[in-house]
Order: sequence, then structure tokens, then C-alpha cells
Amino acid sequence: MAIPLTQNSIEDSVVTMRRLIEARLSDVVPSGQTWPARLHEAQRHALLSPGKRFRPLLCVFIAQGGGAETGALLDAAISTGCVAEMVHAASLILDDLPCMDDAELRRNQPTTHIAFDESTAILSATALLNRAFGVLSRLDAVTPEARVEMIDLLSYAVGSKGLIAGQMADLANTDQSASIAEIERLNTLKTGALFDFSVESAAILSGMHASQRAALKDFSYHLGLAFQLLDDVKDSVMSDDEAEKSVGRDIGKATILAVAGSEASKAKLNDYLASAKAALKRAELSNLDTLTAILDHQFAFLRA
Ligand code: IPE
Ligand code: IPE
Ligand code: MG
Ligand code: MG
Ligand code: MG
Repeated sequence: MAIPLTQNSIEDSVVTMRRLIEARLSDVVPSGQTWPARLHEAQRHALLSPGKRFRPLLCVFIAQGGGAETGALLDAAISTGCVAEMVHAASLILDDLPCMDDAELRRNQPTTHIAFDESTAILSATALLNRAFGVLSRLDAVTPEARVEMIDLLSYAVGSKGLIAGQMADLANTDQSASIAEIERLNTLKTGALFDFSVESAAILSGMHASQRAALKDFSYHLGLAFQLLDDVKDSVMSDDEAEKSVGRDIGKATILAVAGSEASKAKLNDYLASAKAALKRAELSNLDTLTAILDHQFAFLRA
């Protein structure tokens, strides 16, 4: 008989999984002693600094809920989650550069270009992105066809029609008469695209059927919108110490918060989150409790 999950056992399983993800992250990039040591130290600084690991946790628990419960497939899901985290870390290195958000603090540590220098930061982001594709190509437990599909997905998610398009649009995003729909499109690209990869790759490797995949697409779309809007709200109300990163870097940008105000933004955030949760339910995963707990933890700020 299955043992019912208690809140404590859910927390324990998330903590354990985060540890496994962090151990794998440390293995997927060369040691800090490998030549050129400064480059590898910079990669490790960006990748292994204490982030929430939200994208890999999402990837692994969705794959698990879709049937990749143990063994080689679960192992492949952990590596795939690490791929999402490598791309995420690369995007943060670039986002923090003086020519972009000009940030000095990230995850309570100096940003990569401050801890090292701008050239090393750009090269380490590029190396992280390149290695991410290599890790996907080596997922032996996944069929070659599925691996190619995942590689193709990632190239779109991080490419000039995905995250990079969103970052490009964000640089010029100062028109305060922008519509909510235009800002949602930008947020979907700069933040949602990598959630799409994290979720869809988990669906591919665990062999989910089309209706589950459609529900999860809807889930990651609304989750991306909620995640970026919450980040923008925190950016406006928290100090650097509280956020553990440089805040106020997006002042003057046409965010939903800036154009719609804080009350409307809070209502929108709750709507996005409710839509994400409804879509997640429709995906009929076996571990809805765990995924809901991860979401509730991420969005706890809304209830405070
Ligand atoms: C920050 O992402 C960048 C955004 C897309 C808003 P996270 O809030 O997941 O940052 P870490 O990984 O925990 O540092
Ligand atoms: C960045 O959005 C999203 C990325 C693709 C890196 P932000 O610029 O708001 O992220 P933070 O606040 O610096 O983490
Ligand atoms: Mg930015
Ligand atoms: Mg930024
Ligand atoms: Mg931000």
C-alpha cells in the first residue's frame, strides 16, 4: 500500500532532490583547476552559487510524475534539469553585465563580471550554453529521437525566437504606453521560454501522451508570466539584502507593475498562478502534491 505523503516527506524529497541536482551541476562543468582555470572558476561561480534551482526541480518532479520514477530515466531527468540551470546561469551572467542590467550582486555574491571581469564573464556564459547541448546529446537512457527533439527545443527556447528575443526586446522596453499583451509576450520570451523547455523536456523523456503535454504547455506559459511578474514586484519592494541580488535595475522599464500598478499586478499574479495550477492538474501527474508544494513555496510572498 502506498504511504500517504505528509508535508514533511514532501519537503524532505525536495531537499534531497536539490542536493542531487547540485551534485550533478558540479559534475557537468570542469573543475576549477582545469585549464584555463579562470574560465572554469567563473563558470562554477555562476552555476554553483546558491540559487533556488526552480527550473531543475520542476523538470525532475514533472518527469517523475509522468513515470520517470527511478533508475536511468530519473537520472536523465536530473541531467536535463541541470541543462536548464546551465542555460539559466548563462542568461544571468549576461543579464547582469554593465551593457544590460549593470548588476553587482547575484545570489548574495558578486556577479560574475565583478568577481572576475567582463571578458571572462562573456566567455563563461558562452561555454555554459555550449556545454548544455552536449549534456543533452549524452542522455543514453533517452532514445536518439527524443534527444534530438530535446536539443531542438532548447535551441529554440534559448535562441533568437526565445529567451534571447525576450532579452533583446527588454533592452528597448521603456514605452510606458505598452499594452499588457505586449509585455506578456516579452515576459513569455525572456522567462517563459526556459520554463517551456524545463517542462516539455520532462514530458518527452517520461513519454507523456499528447493531452498531458498540451496541459503542461499551458502550465509553463502561465507559470512563466507569474514568475516574471513576481520577480518585478519583488524588485520594487525589496532591498538588495532581501532579494540577495541588485534590485531596481529595471526602473524605467515598461513592466506590468509599472503600467498597471501594484493592485492590478497582484490580481494578475493570482490569476496567472491559478491558471498554472489548473493546467497542472489537467496533466494528471502522480505527484501533484509535491509540485503544488514547490509552487506554493516559490509564490509564498503572495500570501505574506
Ligand atoms: C531570476 O531567476 C531571473 C528571472 C527569470 C526572473 P530565479 O529567481 O530563478 O533566480 P535564482 O536561480 O534563484 O538565482
Ligand atoms: C531576466 O529578467 C530574465 C533573464 C532571462 C535573465 P530580470 O533582469 O528581471 O532578472 P533579474 O531580476 O536580474 O534576476
Ligand atoms: Mg534583465
Ligand atoms: Mg536583471
Ligand atoms: Mg528582475
